Amino acid sequence: MYRTHTCGELRLTDKGKTVTLAGWVQTVRSFGSMTFVDLRDRYGITQLVFEGTPEMGREYVIQATGEVLERSSKNPKIPTGDIEIKVTEFNYLNKSVTPPFTIEEKSDGGEDLRAKYRYLDLRRPPLQRALALRHRLAQEVRNYLDGQGFMEIETPYLIKSTPEGARDFVVPSRMNPGQFYALPQSPQTFKQLLMVAGYDRYFQIVRCFRDEDLRADRQPEFTQIDCEMSFVEQEDVLNMFEGMMRTMFHNALGVDIPNPIPRMSWYDAMDRYGSDKPDIRFGMEIHEITGLTRGHGFGVFDGSEYVGAIAVPGASEYTRKQLDELTEWVKRPQVGAKGLVYIKCNTDGTFKSSIDKFYGPEDLGAMAAACEAKAGDLVLVLCGAKRKTQTMLGVLRVEMGGRLGYRDPKVFAPLWIVDFPLLEWSEEDGRFYAMHHPFTAPKPEHEKWFYSDKKEDLERVCANAYDFVLNGTELGGGSIRIHDAAMQSRMFEVLGISKEDADYKFGFIINAFKFGAPPHGGLAFGFDRVCALFGGQETIRDFIAFPKNNQGRDVMIDSPSLIDQVQMDELCLESTVKAG
Ligand code: AMO
Repeated sequence: MYRTHTCGELRLTDKGKTVTLAGWVQTVRSFGSMTFVDLRDRYGITQLVFEGTPEMGREYVIQATGEVLERSSKNPKIPTGDIEIKVTEFNYLNKSVTPPFTIEEKSDGGEDLRAKYRYLDLRRPPLQRALALRHRLAQEVRNYLDGQGFMEIETPYLIKSTPEGARDFVVPSRMNPGQFYALPQSPQTFKQLLMVAGYDRYFQIVRCFRDEDLRADRQPEFTQIDCEMSFVEQEDVLNMFEGMMRTMFHNALGVDIPNPIPRMSWYDAMDRYGSDKPDIRFGMEIHEITGLTRGHGFGVFDGSEYVGAIAVPGASEYTRKQLDELTEWVKRPQVGAKGLVYIKCNTDGTFKSSIDKFYGPEDLGAMAAACEAKAGDLVLVLCGAKRKTQTMLGVLRVEMGGRLGYRDPKVFAPLWIVDFPLLEWSEEDGRFYAMHHPFTAPKPEHEKWFYSDKKEDLERVCANAYDFVLNGTELGGGSIRIHDAAMQSRMFEVLGISKEDADYKFGFIINAFKFGAPPHGGLAFGFDRVCALFGGQETIRDFIAFPKNNQGRDVMIDSPSLIDQVQMDELCLESTVKAG
C-alpha cells in the first residue's frame, strides 16, 4: 500500500496516528537540524517534518511515514493546517528536474510556458478545482437525463459536413482515395435520425469540431450536452432543460436560479439590449430616441435611420478626458461607432451635452427622460442603421456594466431567448442563411410566409428556436425541427441550395423523413461554457484538460504538424507548403 491517507485528509483528530502519505514536494524549507516539506496531491497539502536535511527538490515524488503531531504554529489557511507529520521513514518514488514554473495556487509561469507544460499546470489547485467542477457537472447531467428516461447514444466522428455555419475540419480517407470525411460540427443530423429510429429521448456529452476564429469562449474542439426529444413542442423542451439547469445549479453550486427562468423574444432582446444574448444582471437598457432628435438641424441624427441611447448611472461627473477615452473606445474596430454623443444629467437638474448647439435644455431633458436617466446619470447616444447601432449600444452597455461592477460572476441571471427569425438575409451574399440551422422549423402560423417568394415575407417568418443565455453568454440553443421531407426541401430551396446539391449533401435525411419521422426538437448546451460560468470565469480554456491556444495549436504536443511523405502519398495528398 503506497499511502494510508491523502494529503488533504488529516486533522487534529488524527493526532498520534502513524500514517503514510505519497505525493509531490511543493516547497522545501531547511533549518539545518530540521527540514519542512509541503507535500501535495490533488486532495490538498500536508506539512512534513524531516530530521536534518535530506535531498529534496521541488516536484520530487516521495512516500513518507510518520506520526501525526499537533503543529505549534498552525496555518488556518489550509484544512490540514493544524497538524504535521514527523517523518521517520521515507522513499523517493521518483525524482524530478526543476520545474519551469512554480506549481502553487498562483504560478509565476506565463501562459505560453504553462501551456507547454500543461501536465504541470494541471497539478495546480485552480485547475484541479476547474476539472473537478467539470466532472461534477457531467455527473449531474447524466443523473438528471437518465432519470428523465434519456438514452446516451454515441454518434460517429468521421462523417459528412453538417451545416452549423463554421468551416469543417476534414480527414482524408486512405481507403477512398481523394475523398474526405468531415468531423461533426455537432451531431445534429444523427440525433434527428435517431428520432426517426424511435429513440425518443437521446443525449450525449459529445465532442464537436469547428474551424472558426477562436476567442475566450471558443475552442476548435469543444463539448456539447446534446439532446433531442420526439413528440414535443417548444414548451416541453424548455421545461425539461430548465429542470436540468436548475438541478445543476442546485446540486453543484447550492444556487437556486429563478423559477421559471424569464423569457424574452429575440426582437425585444435586440431592441432593449442590442444583443441576442443579453446580460440581465443589470438594467441600463437601450432606448430609441430617434423621434426626439429630428428636425433640430443636427445633420448626423437627421440622416440616421435610428438614434438610441443608454443612461449610465452616476456617471454625470465624467471628465473631458474620460469622455474622450470613451469616444475612442467606441471608435475601435471591435465596436465600430463613428462617434459618441453624451448628455450629462447634472445633479442640480441642468444638462450639459456635446450637442448643446442644436438642442435646448428641454429637448435634452426629454431625451434623458426617454432613457429613464436620473439626475447624476450620463446618457450616451449612438446613431446609424437600426440593428447595427443597437448592437454597438449593446457592446457599450456591457462595457459600462463591467466598469461599474455590475457583472459579478457570483450572480447568475439565466434567460431564454425565444421567437428567433427563421432566416437572416445577407446583403453581401444576396441570399438567406438559416439563423439557427437549416433543420429548424418555421412557426406553424408563419408557414404561409415560408412558402412565399417575397423577401419581406420570408424575413417575417419566426422559428420555434430558443437559446439559453447566462450572464451575457450563449450557453445553449436549439429548435423544433422540420420533420417533413417536402418542407425540408423547401428550406434548402429558400437557402439557395440547388436540388442536386441538397440531395448530394443531405439526401440521407430528406429520404429518412419519408419513412415516418416523428415531430421532434431538441437543443445543445456548450458544456465548456457551462463549466466556465459555473466556475465564475469567462474563458473556457481552464475547464478543458488539454485545450488549444488562440492559433488553434496544442503547444504541448506541438500540433498541428507536418506529416511524412509516405503518409501523404498513401492519402493521395500533395501539399503546396514545403517542409521547413
Ligand atoms: P449551436 O451551434 O448553437 O447549436 O451550439 C450549441 C452550443 O455550443 C457552444 N459552442 C461552442 N463552445 C465552445 N467553442 C465553440 N467553438 C462553440 N461553438 C458553439 C455554445 C452553443 O450555444 N446542433 C445545434 C443544437 C441544436 O439545434 O440542437 C448546435 O450545435 O454554447
